[in-house]
Order: sequence, then C-alpha cells, then structure tokens
Amino acid sequence: MISFEIPKLFDFDVPLFPESASTFAPQVDALYFFTLALTAFFTLLIFVGVLFLFIKYRRKSEDEMGEPIHGSLVLEIAWSIIPFIIVMFLFAWGAHVFLVGMRTPEDAREYLATGKQWMWKFQHPEGHREINTLHVPVGEKIKLTMTSEDVIHSFFVPAFRVKQDVLPGRYTQVWFEATKPGSYHLFCTEYCGAEHSQMIGTVYVMEPDEYEDWLAGGIVGSSPVAAGADLFRQYACNTCHENEDNLRGPSLVGIAGQEVRLEGGGTTVRDENYLRESILRPSSKMVEGYLNLMPTYQGQITEEGVAHLIAYIKHLGQEDESSETVASAETATGH
Ligand code: CUA
Repeated sequence: MISFEIPKLFDFDVPLFPESASTFAPQVDALYFFTLALTAFFTLLIFVGVLFLFIKYRRKSEDEMGEPIHGSLVLEIAWSIIPFIIVMFLFAWGAHVFLVGMRTPEDAREYLATGKQWMWKFQHPEGHREINTLHVPVGEKIKLTMTSEDVIHSFFVPAFRVKQDVLPGRYTQVWFEATKPGSYHLFCTEYCGAEHSQMIGTVYVMEPDEYEDWLAGGIVGSSPVAAGADLFRQYACNTCHENEDNLRGPSLVGIAGQEVRLEGGGTTVRDENYLRESILRPSSKMVEGYLNLMPTYQGQITEEGVAHLIAYIKHLGQEDESSETVASAETATGH
C-alpha cells in the first residue's frame, strides 16, 4: 500500500525521544513526526490568519459598519474536501503501520512470555528461561505469545515502538525485529498493583554468534515442544487424539492455524486462543461431528503447561513433521 523510505532526518538524539532500534520504529516515527508537523503547520496557519484578519478588519472609525456576509460555496467545499483528503491520507498511512505491527510474520522465532505481579517470565524456543531479561538475536523476527497469571499487564519496549496488553485467560501477541545490538528498557505499562513501577526489565539484543554463545552457556530445560510432548503423554491426550481422526476425538496433526467447522454451524480458526480454550473448556467450541467427551483441564494445567501443549500441537503441524506419527514426533523431541 504505502511504502516510505525513512530519511535519516529522525536519527538525531532528541532527549525526550526514545532510541529507535527496530524495523518498526522508523515507521511509527515517520507517522508521528508527519502528524506533528501537520498539526504545527495548521496551528500556525490559523494563528497567523486570526492575527492578520484581526488587524486588517479592525474597526477604523466609531460609525463603521461591517459588510454582511452571504457565504461562499467554493470556500465551504474547499475547507471540507481538503481536510477530508488529509485525514484520509493519515488514516490510510496509520492503518498500514498498525497492520504491520499487528500481523505477525510467519517466519518469526516464537518465545513465550508470562506477566505476573510483578515480573516478566520468558521462555526461548530452545527452552531457556529468563526473568525480567530477554536475550534476542539482532536482525531476526521475534514473536512473543503472551499471557498473564493474574491481572492485566502490558509489554512495552519504547526503543522498538511496540506495546501490547498482556491479559489473563487469553493470548496476545507482539512481534519485533531489532536492528541494533544493545540493551533496551522493558516496561509494564498497565497499572497492575503496588509494585507496577518495579515491573521492568531489559531486552538484550545480540549479534547472532553472541546469541548462540549465550544460548550454549545457559542451563536448558525442556524446550516448550518437548515439555508439551511430556504433558501430552502425562494427560493421555493421545488416547483420544491420534494421528487420524477417530470417534473419540479429531487428530491434532497439522490443525494449528487451520479453519474448522464447528458443531451447531459456523467455522473458526484453530489459533492459539482456540487451542487454549479447547484444552481448558472443551465444550465451548466442539468440532463438527464430535460428542462432548473431553474432560475440562481448567485448573489442572498451569498457564505454562497450556502454552507448552500448544507449542507441541503446533509442532505436530509443521510440514517436515506431517508424515510422522504422534509417537515418533515424541521420539523426535527426545521422549
Ligand atoms: Cu504489570 Cu504494571
């Protein structure tokens, strides 16, 4: 739609303005500065216009009477159409930037993030865990799937110009691609209790080889996929969800992100929020042709466990895995 090469113009250090360190930041800044310039221009135009007319049409003698005004169609149309074009341009540009931020790229590395009073917990795709710090490689698309263990928090990294609420009971997502190695502030930006202001952290952006070293030096737990595979077996999910659909339950292989017909009509996309709901409250959206046989796992699996199960289910759907069985996928993840 609209594509702008952002001039280096904005790369100076404004003390009130956060550093720009993601691919998204210059797009947000360009829109912001354009809106600011536009507003300043019209403010000045109106101010100068008022002053000019004030002086030009001042009363020059005691008995002077003003000329009556009968209006001007041309003028009325002009001051309606011109602002309309300007605001529609801003709308289109703003919508474009918004959609860039909202649409997570398919090839992003997937991290899990959990907010709780008062800390941020992260898990890497390889299984590394961190609290209040997040290490990521530069120049790679990073996607965070986020949820909260208690109240509403909000994930905000000013240098990346990304901000997304983190809600209990569902997943939200945020993505960014860092462009400069360094460390950047992470804030909780939704008031969440007494220590809201302490719910801060640091995002460390590293060169890819540094990042590999960092990963190699860390203590690795199970990856989310492997932990999910464990839970899948532990809760005996595979007694009903096999590689092929059976009478008890639909197969889960390759379903993530796909559309499905629901019992009672309608369709839905089996995204992360659908998978989550189907684990915790299976009866809320039944797949067409199935009976409500599955027990609810509400209160039985932790938030992290649910996220791991979903990571495993998504893993079952990956192309290189599609021909493998559930059992061998478990083997492939080391179980
Ligand atoms: Cu968490 Cu404010």
